[in-house]
Amino acid sequence: MRVLVTGGAGYIGSAVTRGLAAAGHEVVVLDNLITGHRAAVPVGVPFALVDTRNTSEMCRTMQTYRIEAVVHLAAISQVGTSVREPRLYFDNNVRGALSLLDAMLDAGVGKIVFSSTAAVYGDPDQCPIVESAATRPKSPYGDTKLFIEAVLARYGEAYGLAHTSLRYFNAAGALADAGEDHRPETHLIPLVLQAVLGTAPPITVFGEDYPTHDGTCVRDYVHVADLARAHVLALDALSTGGRVYNLGCGGGFTVREVLASAGRVTGRTVPVVFGARRDGDAAELIASSTLIGQDLGWKPAHPALDDIVASAWEWAQTHPNGYPD
Ligand code: UFG
Repeated sequence: MRVLVTGGAGYIGSAVTRGLAAAGHEVVVLDNLITGHRAAVPVGVPFALVDTRNTSEMCRTMQTYRIEAVVHLAAISQVGTSVREPRLYFDNNVRGALSLLDAMLDAGVGKIVFSSTAAVYGDPDQCPIVESAATRPKSPYGDTKLFIEAVLARYGEAYGLAHTSLRYFNAAGALADAGEDHRPETHLIPLVLQAVLGTAPPITVFGEDYPTHDGTCVRDYVHVADLARAHVLALDALSTGGRVYNLGCGGGFTVREVLASAGRVTGRTVPVVFGARRDGDAAELIASSTLIGQDLGWKPAHPALDDIVASAWEWAQTHPNGYPD
């Protein structure tokens, strides 16, 4: 299929682009490069520098490349920032997605895989979290993703749009030629590895008084290559019925366990300080990914935390300054 990947110059999008291309799809990347990196787009993949809020340019791009399906990852995604700057999030993530959908309808593109998030659940009543669990976002970021999921359901009914939403838990790890490069970086694993390399200060553990077995937050880390494969499967199985799937490994690791893993993988001491809780952090987020396993046969190939951290460590050592741009 000819597939447009919005946000394909970003961390997850660049892995999805590679996964789709490896599966034989003809991929076009579209990104506004505000957080993405041109160098993250593989050589030979057409690139369009377009903002999703520019409906006419989006439509033109889809027509130029005769696009048949869209994988929509373009968004801003920091939970904490979204609480302080909600207008940025509603503008980028909601207005951007509505504009994209307008362009799709205008250009006659009827298939979309949408990048959603575990942040739609807020503080879950129980873990592992199933897709039918209550959705109570604690942040504008989670609101934006949940709202677009609802829009897709309505567009499926009204316009026959085939759609699937993938709710990622904690994307982590790297491919050999594509990894994490957020500026500023806020995510645990890259920050821990930068602390080990001495290119960032000691890692601050945000809270050690959570009701978890060692007092630090539990997250479900899922390798970005496994996320990429889920998009390939979701695209192949798109239907107008619409689906929503969690993507995690089904196991949780505390922040202390991530630090211990980084110590094992790097063979070095991890410089650590303990600090206060971060606003908006849930104590525990663990996915049940049973549904996508049953429906699409997805199963993480790299569920071991040390393997995920090792791939991120490889990337951190080979790309100490991230991408060259
Ligand atoms: N953490 C620290 N110190 C840091 C950074 C993080 O202790 O310097 C802790 C956090 O408190 C949290 C865990 O490490 O418990 C993971 O934090 P990340 O910032 O790496 O990831 P989040 O769980 O906050 O968020 C990620 C994505 C979101 C997505 C969410 C869904 O960034 O976009 O997963 O679970 F919504």
